[in-house]
Amino acid sequence: MQQSNWVKVTSIDNLPLREGRSVKLAGLDIALFNLGDRCVAVENRCPHLGGPLVDGIVSSSDGKITITCPLHARRVCLDRGEVLVPSGSAEDCALVFPVAVVDGIVTICLDSVMKKEVA
Ligand code: FES
Repeated sequence: MQQSNWVKVTSIDNLPLREGRSVKLAGLDIALFNLGDRCVAVENRCPHLGGPLVDGIVSSSDGKITITCPLHARRVCLDRGEVLVPSGSAEDCALVFPVAVVDGIVTICLDSVMKKEVA
């Protein structure tokens, strides 16, 4: 039987639209964003040199939602964690986490972190 590690984080009312908020879970700093129609969560560490993605600017283009890192302006996809700008970047992806809002409570799935710890 597969286990899921969903953690309740906060009320959706505590997440201003398109502004980041950081939470510490399972030893990770996670940036959480309310996009209006859904929430997304990404490790709060830019794949380039570790800049705080939570302080970046959310934008969208070509159907992709990105966060622009405040340090050197890499644009990181908030759904997949990959660096989209500059294109062809060799950086690794940021960790992204499934997010659900249930009865107004934002919950984050930490399965990917737990699997890494077990491996
Ligand atoms: S640390 Fe994010 S772009 Fe350099």
